[in-house]
Amino acid sequence: MDISIVKKAPEEAKADVLAVMWTSEGGQPPAASALDKTLGGWLTQTAKEEGFAGKEGETLTLRTEGRLPAAHVVLCGVGRKKDAAAESLRLAAASALQAARKPAGRSLAFALDVPRGTSAAEAAQAAAEGLILGAYRFGAFKTLEPEGPSSAVVLAPSAAFASARRGFVRGRLFAQATNVARDLVNQPAGHLTPLALAKEAERLVAGKTHMSARLMRRAELEKMGAGGLLGVAQGSAHEPVMVHLAYKPRAAKKRVALVGKAVTFDSGGLSLKTAKGMETMKCDMAGAAAVIGAFSALAALKPDVEVHGIFGACENMPSGAALRPGDVVKTMSGKTIEILNTDAEGRVTLADALHFATTLAPDAIVDLATLTGAEMVALGEEITGLMSNRRPLADKVLAAAAQAGEKMWELPLESAYKRELESRVADFKNDTSRWGGCLTAGLLLQEFVAGVPWVHLDIAGPAFAERPFNVYTQSGGTGHGVRTLLEWIERG
Ligand code: BES
Ligand code: MN
Ligand code: ZN
Repeated sequence: MDISIVKKAPEEAKADVLAVMWTSEGGQPPAASALDKTLGGWLTQTAKEEGFAGKEGETLTLRTEGRLPAAHVVLCGVGRKKDAAAESLRLAAASALQAARKPAGRSLAFALDVPRGTSAAEAAQAAAEGLILGAYRFGAFKTLEPEGPSSAVVLAPSAAFASARRGFVRGRLFAQATNVARDLVNQPAGHLTPLALAKEAERLVAGKTHMSARLMRRAELEKMGAGGLLGVAQGSAHEPVMVHLAYKPRAAKKRVALVGKAVTFDSGGLSLKTAKGMETMKCDMAGAAAVIGAFSALAALKPDVEVHGIFGACENMPSGAALRPGDVVKTMSGKTIEILNTDAEGRVTLADALHFATTLAPDAIVDLATLTGAEMVALGEEITGLMSNRRPLADKVLAAAAQAGEKMWELPLESAYKRELESRVADFKNDTSRWGGCLTAGLLLQEFVAGVPWVHLDIAGPAFAERPFNVYTQSGGTGHGVRTLLEWIERG
Protein backbone atom coordinates (compact mmCIF):
# COMPACT_ATOMS: atom_id res chain seq x y z
CA MET A 1 0.00 0.00 0.00
CA ASP A 2 1.25 3.41 -1.07
CA ILE A 3 0.97 5.99 1.68
CA SER A 4 1.48 9.73 1.64
CA ILE A 5 0.38 13.00 3.24
CA VAL A 6 -1.02 16.04 1.41
CA LYS A 7 -2.35 19.46 2.27
CA LYS A 8 -5.99 19.23 1.21
CA ALA A 9 -9.52 19.71 2.51
CA PRO A 10 -11.72 16.58 2.62
CA GLU A 11 -14.41 18.14 0.41
CA GLU A 12 -11.83 18.30 -2.42
CA ALA A 13 -10.41 14.80 -2.06
CA LYS A 14 -10.92 12.55 -5.10
CA ALA A 15 -10.76 9.10 -3.53
CA ASP A 16 -12.87 5.96 -3.56
CA VAL A 17 -13.25 6.27 0.19
CA LEU A 18 -12.95 9.40 2.28
CA ALA A 19 -12.63 8.82 6.03
CA VAL A 20 -13.30 11.47 8.67
CA MET A 21 -13.04 11.31 12.44
CA TRP A 22 -16.37 11.51 14.27
CA THR A 23 -16.78 12.09 18.00
CA SER A 24 -19.58 10.72 20.16
CA GLU A 25 -20.67 14.23 21.20
CA GLY A 26 -22.26 16.99 19.16
CA GLY A 27 -19.74 19.45 17.74
CA GLN A 28 -17.45 17.57 15.42
CA PRO A 29 -13.72 18.31 14.93
CA PRO A 30 -12.79 20.85 12.20
CA ALA A 31 -12.39 18.53 9.17
CA ALA A 32 -15.64 16.68 9.85
CA SER A 33 -17.65 19.78 10.66
CA ALA A 34 -16.38 21.67 7.57
CA LEU A 35 -17.33 18.69 5.44
CA ASP A 36 -20.72 18.41 7.10
CA LYS A 37 -21.32 22.10 6.47
CA THR A 38 -20.47 21.73 2.77
CA LEU A 39 -23.00 18.91 2.67
CA GLY A 40 -25.70 20.95 4.39
CA GLY A 41 -25.68 18.84 7.54
CA TRP A 42 -26.10 15.55 5.66
CA LEU A 43 -23.48 13.74 7.77
CA THR A 44 -24.98 14.72 11.14
CA GLN A 45 -28.44 13.93 9.88
CA THR A 46 -27.50 10.50 8.48
CA ALA A 47 -25.41 9.54 11.52
CA LYS A 48 -28.47 10.25 13.65
CA GLU A 49 -30.83 8.29 11.40
CA GLU A 50 -28.47 5.32 11.30
CA GLY A 51 -27.98 5.34 15.06
CA PHE A 52 -24.24 5.89 14.64
CA ALA A 53 -22.90 7.05 18.01
CA GLY A 54 -19.23 7.66 17.09
CA LYS A 55 -17.91 5.31 19.74
CA GLU A 56 -14.20 4.52 19.53
CA GLY A 57 -13.54 1.94 16.79
CA GLU A 58 -17.07 2.16 15.29
CA THR A 59 -17.47 3.10 11.62
CA LEU A 60 -20.34 4.11 9.34
CA THR A 61 -19.91 3.91 5.56
CA LEU A 62 -22.10 6.07 3.28
CA ARG A 63 -22.32 6.40 -0.51
CA THR A 64 -21.98 10.05 -1.42
CA GLU A 65 -24.09 9.76 -4.63
CA GLY A 66 -22.32 12.67 -6.31
CA ARG A 67 -22.42 14.99 -3.31
CA LEU A 68 -18.60 14.93 -3.16
CA PRO A 69 -15.65 14.07 -5.41
CA ALA A 70 -15.16 11.01 -3.14
CA ALA A 71 -17.47 8.05 -3.80
CA HIS A 72 -17.89 6.98 -0.17
CA VAL A 73 -17.54 8.61 3.20
CA VAL A 74 -16.60 6.62 6.28
CA LEU A 75 -17.25 8.16 9.65
CA CYS A 76 -14.65 6.82 12.08
CA GLY A 77 -15.75 6.94 15.69
CA VAL A 78 -13.17 8.29 18.12
CA GLY A 79 -15.33 8.45 21.26
CA ARG A 80 -15.57 11.52 23.43
CA LYS A 81 -13.59 14.55 22.35
CA LYS A 82 -11.76 14.92 25.64
CA ASP A 83 -10.63 11.27 25.57
CA ALA A 84 -9.45 11.44 21.97
CA ALA A 85 -5.68 11.11 21.79
CA ALA A 86 -2.98 9.47 19.71
CA GLU A 87 -4.35 6.01 20.44
CA SER A 88 -7.86 6.81 19.19
CA LEU A 89 -6.26 8.08 15.99
CA ARG A 90 -4.35 4.84 15.44
CA LEU A 91 -7.60 2.95 15.92
CA ALA A 92 -9.57 5.34 13.69
CA ALA A 93 -7.03 5.15 10.85
CA ALA A 94 -6.91 1.36 11.00
CA SER A 95 -10.70 1.07 11.13
CA ALA A 96 -10.97 3.36 8.09
CA LEU A 97 -8.70 0.92 6.30
CA GLN A 98 -10.87 -1.94 7.49
CA ALA A 99 -14.03 -0.21 6.23
CA ALA A 100 -12.40 0.38 2.83
CA ARG A 101 -11.09 -3.18 2.65
CA LYS A 102 -13.37 -4.51 -0.09
CA PRO A 103 -13.18 -4.51 -3.00
CA ALA A 104 -9.38 -4.53 -3.10
CA GLY A 105 -7.40 -1.77 -4.76
CA ARG A 106 -9.45 1.25 -3.77
CA SER A 107 -7.94 4.59 -2.82
CA LEU A 108 -8.42 5.85 0.74
CA ALA A 109 -8.16 9.43 1.95
CA PHE A 110 -8.02 9.89 5.71
CA ALA A 111 -8.88 13.39 6.91
CA LEU A 112 -6.70 14.20 9.89
CA ASP A 113 -8.13 16.09 12.82
CA VAL A 114 -5.82 16.99 15.67
CA PRO A 115 -7.37 16.04 19.02
CA ARG A 116 -7.00 18.58 21.83
CA GLY A 117 -3.91 17.91 23.93
CA THR A 118 -2.16 16.37 20.89
CA SER A 119 0.14 18.14 18.44
CA ALA A 120 -0.29 17.98 14.67
CA ALA A 121 2.94 15.96 14.52
CA GLU A 122 1.72 13.43 17.09
CA ALA A 123 -1.64 13.11 15.37
CA ALA A 124 -0.12 12.56 11.93
CA GLN A 125 2.34 10.06 13.38
CA ALA A 126 -0.51 8.11 14.97
CA ALA A 127 -2.50 8.12 11.71
CA ALA A 128 0.48 6.81 9.73
CA GLU A 129 1.06 4.12 12.35
CA GLY A 130 -2.60 3.05 12.34
CA LEU A 131 -2.60 2.75 8.54
CA ILE A 132 0.68 0.87 8.16
CA LEU A 133 0.24 -1.40 11.18
CA GLY A 134 -3.39 -2.03 10.23
CA ALA A 135 -2.46 -3.03 6.68
CA TYR A 136 0.11 -5.59 7.84
CA ARG A 137 -0.40 -9.22 6.78
CA PHE A 138 2.06 -12.12 6.95
CA GLY A 139 1.83 -13.71 3.55
CA ALA A 140 5.08 -15.64 3.28
CA PHE A 141 3.42 -19.06 3.39
CA LYS A 142 -0.21 -18.42 2.51
CA THR A 143 -1.85 -17.14 -0.62
CA LEU A 144 -3.73 -14.13 0.67
CA GLU A 145 -6.87 -12.86 -1.05
CA PRO A 146 -6.06 -9.40 -2.35
CA GLU A 147 -7.82 -6.95 -0.07
CA GLY A 148 -7.49 -3.42 1.19
CA PRO A 149 -6.78 -0.09 -0.49
CA SER A 150 -3.82 0.17 -2.84
CA SER A 151 -3.17 3.71 -1.66
CA ALA A 152 -3.87 5.76 1.43
CA VAL A 153 -3.37 9.49 1.72
CA VAL A 154 -3.57 11.50 4.90
CA LEU A 155 -5.29 14.86 4.35
CA ALA A 156 -3.68 17.35 6.70
CA PRO A 157 -4.97 20.82 7.55
CA SER A 158 -2.80 23.51 5.95
CA ALA A 159 -2.27 25.36 9.27
CA ALA A 160 0.18 22.83 10.70
CA PHE A 161 1.19 21.01 7.54
CA ALA A 162 4.97 21.12 8.04
CA SER A 163 4.81 19.54 11.49
CA ALA A 164 2.12 17.09 10.42
CA ARG A 165 4.37 15.92 7.62
CA ARG A 166 7.28 15.50 10.03
CA GLY A 167 5.09 13.39 12.33
CA PHE A 168 3.79 11.38 9.40
CA VAL A 169 7.32 10.45 8.26
CA ARG A 170 8.22 9.46 11.83
CA GLY A 171 5.07 7.34 12.17
CA ARG A 172 5.80 5.60 8.87
CA LEU A 173 9.30 4.71 10.09
CA PHE A 174 8.08 3.53 13.50
CA ALA A 175 5.39 1.35 11.93
CA GLN A 176 7.67 -0.12 9.26
CA ALA A 177 10.20 -0.99 11.98
CA THR A 178 7.40 -2.67 13.96
CA ASN A 179 6.47 -4.70 10.87
CA VAL A 180 10.11 -5.81 10.52
CA ALA A 181 9.85 -7.31 14.01
CA ARG A 182 6.44 -8.86 13.22
CA ASP A 183 7.85 -10.59 10.14
CA LEU A 184 10.73 -12.06 12.14
CA VAL A 185 8.45 -13.39 14.88
CA ASN A 186 6.01 -14.84 12.34
CA GLN A 187 8.72 -16.80 10.54
CA PRO A 188 8.44 -20.48 11.56
CA ALA A 189 11.31 -21.68 13.72
CA GLY A 190 12.24 -24.26 11.08
CA HIS A 191 13.00 -21.38 8.75
CA LEU A 192 14.31 -18.81 11.20
CA THR A 193 17.14 -20.76 12.85
CA PRO A 194 19.58 -18.96 15.17
CA LEU A 195 21.98 -18.36 12.28
CA ALA A 196 19.18 -17.20 9.97
CA LEU A 197 18.07 -14.69 12.62
CA ALA A 198 21.64 -13.43 13.00
CA LYS A 199 22.00 -13.09 9.21
CA GLU A 200 18.71 -11.15 8.99
CA ALA A 201 20.05 -8.69 11.56
CA GLU A 202 23.31 -8.40 9.64
CA ARG A 203 21.45 -7.85 6.37
CA LEU A 204 19.24 -5.10 7.82
CA VAL A 205 22.19 -2.97 8.89
CA ALA A 206 24.49 -3.80 5.95
CA GLY A 207 25.80 -0.77 4.07
CA LYS A 208 24.13 1.77 6.37
CA THR A 209 26.22 4.65 7.65
CA HIS A 210 27.57 4.39 11.21
CA MET A 211 26.21 0.82 11.43
CA SER A 212 28.02 -2.44 11.99
CA ALA A 213 27.21 -6.06 12.83
CA ARG A 214 29.43 -8.66 14.46
CA LEU A 215 28.49 -12.35 14.59
CA MET A 216 30.15 -14.52 17.24
CA ARG A 217 30.04 -18.26 16.48
CA ARG A 218 30.88 -21.29 18.61
CA ALA A 219 34.66 -20.95 18.73
CA GLU A 220 34.42 -17.33 19.80
CA LEU A 221 31.66 -18.04 22.33
CA GLU A 222 33.81 -20.74 23.88
CA LYS A 223 36.76 -18.35 24.11
CA MET A 224 34.53 -15.72 25.74
CA GLY A 225 33.20 -18.30 28.18
CA ALA A 226 29.54 -17.83 27.20
CA GLY A 227 28.51 -21.01 28.99
CA GLY A 228 24.91 -19.91 29.46
CA LEU A 229 24.19 -19.51 25.76
CA LEU A 230 26.27 -22.55 24.80
CA GLY A 231 24.56 -24.64 27.48
CA VAL A 232 21.01 -23.87 26.39
CA ALA A 233 22.00 -24.43 22.74
CA GLN A 234 23.66 -27.79 23.27
CA GLY A 235 20.55 -29.91 22.73
CA SER A 236 19.81 -28.39 19.34
CA ALA A 237 21.04 -29.38 15.89
CA HIS A 238 21.46 -25.66 15.21
CA GLU A 239 24.52 -23.76 16.35
CA PRO A 240 24.14 -20.73 18.62
CA VAL A 241 25.37 -17.31 17.57
CA MET A 242 25.77 -14.09 19.50
CA VAL A 243 25.08 -10.89 17.61
CA HIS A 244 26.37 -7.40 18.34
CA LEU A 245 24.85 -4.60 16.27
CA ALA A 246 26.17 -1.08 16.68
CA TYR A 247 25.04 2.34 15.56
CA LYS A 248 27.74 4.92 16.29
CA PRO A 249 26.97 8.42 15.10
CA ARG A 250 29.64 11.10 15.43
CA ALA A 251 29.42 13.10 18.68
CA ALA A 252 26.87 10.89 20.40
CA LYS A 253 25.44 12.33 23.65
CA LYS A 254 25.12 8.95 25.31
CA ARG A 255 25.45 5.22 24.80
CA VAL A 256 22.67 2.68 25.32
CA ALA A 257 22.47 -1.10 24.89
CA LEU A 258 19.38 -2.99 23.77
CA VAL A 259 19.39 -6.68 24.65
CA GLY A 260 16.85 -9.19 23.33
CA LYS A 261 15.98 -12.77 24.19
CA ALA A 262 16.58 -14.80 21.03
CA VAL A 263 15.41 -18.37 21.58
CA THR A 264 14.25 -19.22 18.05
CA PHE A 265 12.21 -22.11 19.42
CA ASP A 266 11.53 -23.05 23.04
CA SER A 267 10.47 -26.68 23.41
CA GLY A 268 11.38 -26.49 27.10
CA GLY A 269 14.34 -28.83 26.56
CA LEU A 270 14.33 -31.99 28.69
CA SER A 271 11.86 -30.21 31.00
CA LEU A 272 9.62 -30.51 27.95
CA LYS A 273 6.62 -28.25 27.52
CA THR A 274 3.17 -29.66 26.73
CA ALA A 275 2.10 -29.81 23.07
CA LYS A 276 -0.18 -26.79 23.61
CA GLY A 277 2.53 -24.93 25.49
CA MET A 278 4.87 -25.26 22.51
CA GLU A 279 2.49 -24.14 19.78
CA THR A 280 3.47 -20.48 19.88
CA MET A 281 7.09 -20.89 20.97
CA LYS A 282 8.52 -19.65 17.69
CA CYS A 283 7.77 -16.29 19.34
CA ASP A 284 10.53 -16.78 21.91
CA MET A 285 12.88 -14.55 19.91
CA ALA A 286 10.49 -11.58 19.96
CA GLY A 287 12.83 -9.60 22.22
CA ALA A 288 15.61 -9.85 19.63
CA ALA A 289 13.07 -9.09 16.88
CA ALA A 290 12.18 -5.83 18.66
CA VAL A 291 15.86 -4.89 18.89
CA ILE A 292 16.39 -5.65 15.19
CA GLY A 293 13.20 -3.79 14.26
CA ALA A 294 14.39 -0.72 16.17
CA PHE A 295 17.80 -0.94 14.49
CA SER A 296 16.17 -1.02 11.07
CA ALA A 297 14.91 2.54 11.68
CA LEU A 298 17.99 4.09 13.29
CA ALA A 299 19.85 4.99 10.07
CA ALA A 300 16.86 7.04 8.93
CA LEU A 301 16.00 8.55 12.33
CA LYS A 302 19.65 9.48 13.01
CA PRO A 303 19.39 9.99 16.78
CA ASP A 304 22.56 11.40 18.38
CA VAL A 305 22.77 8.42 20.71
CA GLU A 306 25.15 5.50 20.33
CA VAL A 307 23.05 2.33 20.26
CA HIS A 308 24.21 -1.26 20.69
CA GLY A 309 21.97 -4.25 20.01
CA ILE A 310 22.90 -7.60 21.52
CA PHE A 311 21.27 -11.00 21.38
CA GLY A 312 22.39 -14.59 21.91
CA ALA A 313 20.46 -16.67 19.40
CA CYS A 314 19.89 -20.36 20.10
CA GLU A 315 17.24 -23.06 20.13
CA ASN A 316 16.05 -24.87 23.28
CA MET A 317 15.63 -28.55 22.33
CA PRO A 318 15.69 -31.94 24.09
CA SER A 319 18.22 -34.48 22.87
CA GLY A 320 20.97 -36.78 24.11
CA ALA A 321 23.22 -33.73 24.15
CA ALA A 322 20.81 -31.39 25.94
CA LEU A 323 21.32 -29.77 29.33
CA ARG A 324 20.02 -31.98 32.14
CA PRO A 325 18.28 -30.81 35.28
CA GLY A 326 21.07 -30.56 37.86
CA ASP A 327 23.71 -29.43 35.35
CA VAL A 328 25.70 -26.30 36.15
CA VAL A 329 26.74 -23.71 33.56
CA LYS A 330 29.41 -21.06 33.96
CA THR A 331 28.35 -17.77 32.41
CA MET A 332 30.56 -15.17 30.74
CA SER A 333 30.60 -13.12 33.94
CA GLY A 334 32.14 -16.05 35.82
CA LYS A 335 28.99 -16.63 37.89
CA THR A 336 27.53 -20.13 37.80
CA ILE A 337 23.90 -21.20 37.43
CA GLU A 338 22.42 -24.56 38.41
CA ILE A 339 19.89 -25.64 35.79
CA LEU A 340 16.98 -27.24 37.63
CA ASN A 341 14.39 -26.62 34.94
CA THR A 342 15.64 -26.53 31.37
CA ASP A 343 12.50 -24.57 30.43
CA ALA A 344 13.75 -21.57 32.40
CA GLU A 345 16.32 -21.06 29.64
CA GLY A 346 15.79 -17.40 28.75
CA ARG A 347 17.45 -16.07 31.90
CA VAL A 348 20.43 -18.37 31.30
CA THR A 349 21.06 -17.06 27.77
CA LEU A 350 20.37 -13.48 28.87
CA ALA A 351 22.98 -13.78 31.64
CA ASP A 352 25.60 -13.85 28.88
CA ALA A 353 23.98 -11.26 26.60
CA LEU A 354 23.52 -8.80 29.50
CA HIS A 355 27.07 -9.33 30.68
CA PHE A 356 28.34 -8.71 27.15
CA ALA A 357 26.32 -5.47 27.13
CA THR A 358 27.95 -4.28 30.38
CA THR A 359 31.43 -4.68 28.83
CA LEU A 360 30.50 -1.87 26.39
CA ALA A 361 30.12 0.53 29.36
CA PRO A 362 26.66 1.78 28.37
CA ASP A 363 24.81 4.53 30.24
CA ALA A 364 21.71 2.34 30.20
CA ILE A 365 20.59 -1.16 29.23
CA VAL A 366 17.08 -2.11 28.16
CA ASP A 367 16.32 -5.78 27.67
CA LEU A 368 13.22 -7.30 26.11
CA ALA A 369 12.35 -10.94 26.68
CA THR A 370 9.43 -13.34 26.36
CA LEU A 371 10.68 -14.54 29.71
CA THR A 372 7.89 -15.99 31.86
CA GLY A 373 4.41 -17.42 31.67
CA ALA A 374 3.99 -15.79 35.08
CA GLU A 375 4.13 -12.38 33.39
CA MET A 376 1.00 -13.28 31.45
CA VAL A 377 -0.70 -14.55 34.59
CA ALA A 378 0.07 -11.23 36.29
CA LEU A 379 -0.74 -8.75 33.53
CA GLY A 380 -2.60 -10.63 30.79
CA GLU A 381 -1.93 -10.72 27.09
CA GLU A 382 -1.51 -7.05 26.29
CA ILE A 383 0.65 -5.57 29.04
CA THR A 384 4.40 -5.77 29.49
CA GLY A 385 5.94 -6.20 32.94
CA LEU A 386 8.66 -3.60 33.50
CA MET A 387 11.33 -3.96 36.19
CA SER A 388 14.24 -1.63 36.79
CA ASN A 389 17.10 -0.85 39.14
CA ARG A 390 16.82 2.95 38.53
CA ARG A 391 13.77 5.13 39.19
CA PRO A 392 14.47 7.89 36.61
CA LEU A 393 15.25 5.40 33.84
CA ALA A 394 12.10 3.38 34.58
CA ASP A 395 10.05 6.58 34.41
CA LYS A 396 11.59 7.53 31.07
CA VAL A 397 10.82 4.16 29.52
CA LEU A 398 7.28 4.17 30.93
CA ALA A 399 6.71 7.65 29.48
CA ALA A 400 8.07 6.54 26.09
CA ALA A 401 5.77 3.50 26.14
CA ALA A 402 2.74 5.65 26.92
CA GLN A 403 3.59 7.95 24.01
CA ALA A 404 4.13 4.96 21.71
CA GLY A 405 0.80 3.40 22.68
CA GLU A 406 2.39 0.25 24.12
CA LYS A 407 1.01 -0.91 27.46
CA MET A 408 3.57 -1.43 30.22
CA TRP A 409 3.24 -1.73 33.98
CA GLU A 410 5.95 -1.69 36.60
CA LEU A 411 6.59 -4.68 38.85
CA PRO A 412 9.01 -4.70 41.80
CA LEU A 413 12.51 -6.17 41.99
CA GLU A 414 11.79 -7.28 45.56
CA SER A 415 15.15 -8.11 47.14
CA ALA A 416 13.59 -10.36 49.80
CA TYR A 417 12.74 -12.77 46.99
CA LYS A 418 16.42 -13.21 46.13
CA ARG A 419 16.40 -16.18 48.51
CA GLU A 420 14.55 -17.99 45.71
CA LEU A 421 17.70 -17.85 43.59
CA GLU A 422 19.92 -19.64 46.13
CA SER A 423 21.43 -22.91 44.95
CA ARG A 424 23.21 -25.54 47.03
CA VAL A 425 25.82 -26.15 44.36
CA ALA A 426 26.14 -22.96 42.28
CA ASP A 427 25.95 -19.18 42.67
CA PHE A 428 22.31 -19.25 41.55
CA LYS A 429 19.65 -21.65 40.38
CA ASN A 430 17.42 -21.02 37.40
CA ASP A 431 14.20 -22.49 38.79
CA THR A 432 12.03 -20.75 41.37
CA SER A 433 8.66 -21.33 42.99
CA ARG A 434 5.56 -20.42 41.00
CA TRP A 435 4.89 -17.40 43.19
CA GLY A 436 6.09 -14.16 41.66
CA GLY A 437 7.80 -16.06 38.85
CA CYS A 438 8.09 -12.92 36.74
CA LEU A 439 9.86 -11.06 39.56
CA THR A 440 12.33 -13.80 40.44
CA ALA A 441 13.31 -14.12 36.78
CA GLY A 442 13.95 -10.35 36.77
CA LEU A 443 16.00 -10.70 39.97
CA LEU A 444 18.28 -13.27 38.35
CA LEU A 445 18.86 -10.99 35.35
CA GLN A 446 19.76 -8.16 37.72
CA GLU A 447 22.74 -10.23 38.91
CA PHE A 448 24.29 -9.83 35.45
CA VAL A 449 23.94 -6.09 34.78
CA ALA A 450 26.75 -5.09 37.16
CA GLY A 451 24.85 -2.13 38.57
CA VAL A 452 24.40 -0.42 35.18
CA PRO A 453 21.09 1.49 34.98
CA TRP A 454 18.78 -1.12 33.48
CA VAL A 455 15.19 -1.77 32.50
CA HIS A 456 13.88 -5.28 31.99
CA LEU A 457 10.77 -5.69 29.85
CA ASP A 458 9.08 -9.08 30.18
CA ILE A 459 7.04 -9.08 26.96
CA ALA A 460 5.73 -12.67 27.26
CA GLY A 461 2.11 -11.47 26.91
CA PRO A 462 2.15 -8.72 24.28
CA ALA A 463 4.86 -10.08 21.95
CA PHE A 464 2.50 -12.56 20.35
CA ALA A 465 -1.25 -12.22 19.85
CA GLU A 466 -3.11 -15.52 19.78
CA ARG A 467 -6.08 -13.48 18.58
CA PRO A 468 -6.03 -9.87 17.37
CA PHE A 469 -5.58 -7.30 20.18
CA ASN A 470 -7.21 -4.53 18.17
CA VAL A 471 -7.78 -3.36 14.61
CA TYR A 472 -4.11 -2.55 14.06
CA THR A 473 -2.63 -5.53 15.94
CA GLN A 474 -3.41 -8.75 14.06
CA SER A 475 -2.84 -12.24 15.42
CA GLY A 476 0.78 -13.42 15.44
CA GLY A 477 3.88 -11.37 16.13
CA THR A 478 2.98 -7.86 17.25
CA GLY A 479 6.33 -6.07 17.10
CA HIS A 480 5.63 -4.89 20.65
CA GLY A 481 8.50 -2.84 22.11
CA VAL A 482 9.90 -1.42 18.86
CA ARG A 483 8.06 1.90 19.08
CA THR A 484 8.84 2.32 22.78
CA LEU A 485 12.54 1.75 22.09
CA LEU A 486 12.59 4.28 19.25
CA GLU A 487 10.65 6.86 21.25
CA TRP A 488 12.96 6.40 24.24
CA ILE A 489 16.14 6.60 22.14
CA GLU A 490 14.95 9.70 20.29
CA ARG A 491 14.14 11.49 23.54
CA GLY A 492 17.86 11.10 24.33
N1 BES B 1 9.50 -18.70 26.80
C1 BES B 1 8.93 -19.10 28.03
C2 BES B 1 7.96 -18.06 28.61
C3 BES B 1 6.71 -17.81 27.83
C4 BES B 1 5.56 -18.55 28.08
C5 BES B 1 6.64 -16.81 26.88
C6 BES B 1 4.40 -18.30 27.38
C7 BES B 1 5.48 -16.54 26.17
C8 BES B 1 4.36 -17.29 26.42
C9 BES B 1 10.03 -19.32 29.06
O1 BES B 1 11.23 -19.78 28.57
C10 BES B 1 9.55 -20.34 30.04
O2 BES B 1 9.29 -21.44 29.63
N2 BES B 1 9.42 -19.96 31.30
C11 BES B 1 8.98 -20.86 32.31
C12 BES B 1 9.82 -20.62 33.55
C13 BES B 1 9.63 -21.61 34.64
C14 BES B 1 10.08 -23.00 34.17
C15 BES B 1 10.41 -21.19 35.85
C16 BES B 1 7.51 -20.57 32.59
O3 BES B 1 7.13 -19.41 32.57
O4 BES B 1 6.76 -21.51 32.79
MN1 MN C 1 11.27 -21.92 28.41
ZN1 ZN D 1 11.64 -19.39 26.61
